[in-house]
Amino acid sequence: MNDQIPTSAQRAEALQGMGCKRKRVEDVRFVQGKGNYVDDLKLPGMLYGDFMRSPHAHARIKKIDTAKAAAVPGVVAVLTAETLKTVNLAWMPTLAGDVQMVLADGKVLFQNQEVAFVIAEERYVAADAADLVEVEYEALPVNVDPLKAMAQDAPVIREDIKDKTEGAHGKRKHYNHVFNWQAGDKAATDAAFANAEVTIKEFIVYPRVHPCPLETCQCVASFDKIKGELTLWGTFQAPHVIRTVAALISKIPEHKIHVIAPDIGGGFGNKVGAYSGYICAIVASIVTGRPVKWTEDRIENLSTTAFARDFHMEMQIACTRDGRVTALRCYTIADHGAFDACANASKWPAGLFSIITGSYDFPAAHVSVDGVYTNKAPGGVAYRCSFRVTEAAYCIERAMDIMAQKLGMDPAEFRMKNLIRREQFPYTSAMGWQYDSGDYHTAMTKAMESVNYKKLREEQKAKQAAFARGQTRELMGIGVAFFTEIVGAGPSRNCDILGIAMFDSAEIRIHPTGTGICRLGTKSQGQGHETTYAQIIATELGLAADNIAVEEGNTDTAPYGLGTYGSRSTPVSGAATAMACRKIKAKAQMIAAYMLEVHDDDLDWDVDRFRVKGNPERFKTMTELAWAAYHEVPPGMEPGLEAVNYYDPPNFTFPFGAYICVVDVDVDTGMTKIRRFYALDDCGTRINPMIIEGQVHGGLTEAFGIAMGQEIHYDPEGNVTTASFMDYFLPTAVETPKWETDWTTTPSPHHPIGAKGVGESPNVGGVPCFSNAVNDAFKFLGSTHIQMPHDHWRTWAAADKLGLHQ
Ligand code: CDP
Repeated sequence: MNDQIPTSAQRAEALQGMGCKRKRVEDVRFVQGKGNYVDDLKLPGMLYGDFMRSPHAHARIKKIDTAKAAAVPGVVAVLTAETLKTVNLAWMPTLAGDVQMVLADGKVLFQNQEVAFVIAEERYVAADAADLVEVEYEALPVNVDPLKAMAQDAPVIREDIKDKTEGAHGKRKHYNHVFNWQAGDKAATDAAFANAEVTIKEFIVYPRVHPCPLETCQCVASFDKIKGELTLWGTFQAPHVIRTVAALISKIPEHKIHVIAPDIGGGFGNKVGAYSGYICAIVASIVTGRPVKWTEDRIENLSTTAFARDFHMEMQIACTRDGRVTALRCYTIADHGAFDACANASKWPAGLFSIITGSYDFPAAHVSVDGVYTNKAPGGVAYRCSFRVTEAAYCIERAMDIMAQKLGMDPAEFRMKNLIRREQFPYTSAMGWQYDSGDYHTAMTKAMESVNYKKLREEQKAKQAAFARGQTRELMGIGVAFFTEIVGAGPSRNCDILGIAMFDSAEIRIHPTGTGICRLGTKSQGQGHETTYAQIIATELGLAADNIAVEEGNTDTAPYGLGTYGSRSTPVSGAATAMACRKIKAKAQMIAAYMLEVHDDDLDWDVDRFRVKGNPERFKTMTELAWAAYHEVPPGMEPGLEAVNYYDPPNFTFPFGAYICVVDVDVDTGMTKIRRFYALDDCGTRINPMIIEGQVHGGLTEAFGIAMGQEIHYDPEGNVTTASFMDYFLPTAVETPKWETDWTTTPSPHHPIGAKGVGESPNVGGVPCFSNAVNDAFKFLGSTHIQMPHDHWRTWAAADKLGLHQ
């Protein structure tokens, strides 16, 4: 009989807790077309809003005539900046301490800027009528080049703050200057460079790209005049922040605003901020007394809602002759477009860019970033990265390759020599970040052995010889990247948004029958949170993951949270979930002790139950304790079994990875073929290995898109030339290479379950790896740095510049 009693290991397996490849529970509805997206929402009497947008990148508005649009049958109202002024909403605050026009007020500052909002009974009536809004423009000189933004005669972008010498982040140097932000020790860095044996300097551009989620940004606003309450459904990565912003802007009391984010089809940072569409839909609903839906189309999404990157970096590193890094210096111009609507923690106008020393033991470093205004769309979000970490990782990883080339060293060997050693953790970087844990050499060695790095280099040498003999027109490149991320914003001493500390939260209620619900302030956009948070609870509380519902995206039910972006869900809300479980478990232990008539300390935890020490036959399972919590609590104890935790992390977490890419480049066509891509990620304790693999596949696909073809490009007149998927490279299954994934596990010492974030890592590490591979192919011909994106045309042009087409 005894052998039929499940062992601890069998009971643990049945829970489907942490470490298990649990199938994604949300997919049951997604694969059957039963997801519930904003566009699925149809309310009685709902109206539709659409924008009339500016064809000009910079122009004064002389006159707006809405009469023809308003006369179209089915049009209910047309809003302009003048209408919004009557409710004091023509401008709105941005997350970065700037202000932004909701509808163009006096002039337009970028192409496709919102000028008028037409509200109609049907979506297409609104769109047709928007075309009939007549605007008289006077074109103004345009500047879309950030490097020219602070020239003496540069066009004034922001007349509203032209004479302001002080911005949200200190002194302004010029009327188009947003901020200067510095980190590190300038004097020590200058001294190290003065004594340097070898230095490199390279101008490295991370072009403007766009997160382009498949579902664009959208919302439905419904204002109830009787109750004075607003319900706002939308594609919000941070629903509570939207509620607070909506309260501050609209002056509707926050408790009378209900924000609901249903299923979201990808966010990648694009759905963090507040957009004109949200404000106009709210105003329109208040004015008309009916629900109003706003849905972006693809061109609107790519050309007006938050972009990413646009960092122009002059990077220098110093080194000893035998290959030890001694200092790093980087001066960056960051193009913020027409308004500073960057989504960063308030204190960090250039985000976490000072992680730029990467995985290497730099004794001295200094960065300085100037933000500037141009005639481009505002934004500056973390496109699947933690605030500006991608830019930093790209810059350092290119620079390490360039220095290795100058030293005549192999790029992997050069990295090995400078990686922070295991015994140096917790490691404090020259920029002051304390890296929590890492075992970089083990990861790099595993990566190199897995791809047989030595053999690949031999093959490359042979190919180069064949190329020199004219026997092939193909070059082989091997890209190496070792990245360190900084995720989990964040410790409240470092991070806030609008003054709200960046903690996060989880509320767990265990029902009498031993099932439960967990509500969180984060919001999945495809990451599988309903699956993985339940796994944390399963392991912590010994209740089957299948018996735990996970609910996000409803500000009425979830405790306040700062949302999902920058891989913060696991480091912050994952920790809150574990901590809330531990409160519940502590109470359950007291109930168990009471029921078993022993002292609390006389109990041991075993997977899903408390056992009496030395008498394991006497136990109470968590399911029994849940029942008891509602009818048999010890005298004086409150009944019920629930807890809420607001988790303010003591530090960020620092996931890392070693990536290697092999590429073949045809110098006559510029075609690149990714032959191999190996990605080793270390995200500490792994909650769901299958979901992690999926995250890595998705992130690498985005990295592939960015490195090999994505750019939001403007012509000199400020026209966006890449605002549709005909022109903006979105990789499909056809182009996407095969990914090889691997891992090491180095838990975070300060996280309750040792987990670090992973969602962003492949984007952060993937981009430099692709770029290093393409650059590596051309290295032996004397090329130092080819700018991204490495599309066929640019790769062909790089070959041409090297004289390969004569
Ligand atoms: O904040 P976001 O959800 O975008 O990123 P994340 O915290 O890195 O989590 C992405 C997904 O990977 C979630 O479903 C996590 O639960 C999962 N994950 C995991 O299984 N193990 C980790 N150590 C980190 C994340």
